[in-house]
Amino acid sequence: MPFKAVVFDAYGTLYDVQSVAAVTEQAFPGHGDIITQLWRIKQLEYTWLRSLMQRYEDFAVVTHDSLVYTLRVLGLRTDAATLDRIIAKYLDLDPYPDARAALAAMKDRRLAILSNGSPAMLDGLAKASGFDTLLDAVISVDARKIFKPSPQAYALIEETLGLAPSEVLFVSSNPWDVCGAKAFGLNVAWIERVSPEAMAAACLETDLVAPLTLFKALRTQMDELGFAPDYRIAALSELPEIVTTHEP
Ligand code: 2OP
Repeated sequence: MPFKAVVFDAYGTLYDVQSVAAVTEQAFPGHGDIITQLWRIKQLEYTWLRSLMQRYEDFAVVTHDSLVYTLRVLGLRTDAATLDRIIAKYLDLDPYPDARAALAAMKDRRLAILSNGSPAMLDGLAKASGFDTLLDAVISVDARKIFKPSPQAYALIEETLGLAPSEVLFVSSNPWDVCGAKAFGLNVAWIERVSPEAMAAACLETDLVAPLTLFKALRTQMDELGFAPDYRIAALSELPEIVTTHEP
């Protein structure tokens, strides 16, 4: 039976977190790349740390605090207005170029986001990109006050859509999210935005590993956690065929 719903991770899957680089570079010329990469690395770390510490604060707080950390360790002075201007980009991240067409091509399924983003952040993104008209649900982990990859977060899909994990295809570019969703029992498509060959080539290119390359090495290659995706795709445009032809 084909999948009844396709549920997407937001940041890095439908929306390009690297698109903050123009804003960080404008605010701190010469530091845009290092700020962008450290910020995202720390932002994710803080979600996991807060979940383990059982000290949940929503993704807006985590996003703010990880930017403050990043600017502090880089020795960059800032003010509230600059922080706000940089963070505002998170409400208007660039969607990946193939995201709209992929969503539109699967309109006969139920389409949703399940993200660590706070409800306000995700609603802002969905509206800014116009994806709100294509999505049936925007699910935030805030309802459980714990971040992915906690099983409690993935359980929100069934609670919201009323569909069993076996009826759902979950799509993420984030390896830790792919492993978490598989461990939970979902069908999973991993969008491999950086191929292992491109990764290895980038590492060989220079003696000094660039911040973006370090980020890719940490956050775009499949983790050694004992789980593998059901599908590996190179572009979201490959999804409609998988969704239609899947046989359990
Ligand atoms: C998400 O959208 C943080 O990328 C992660 O849930």
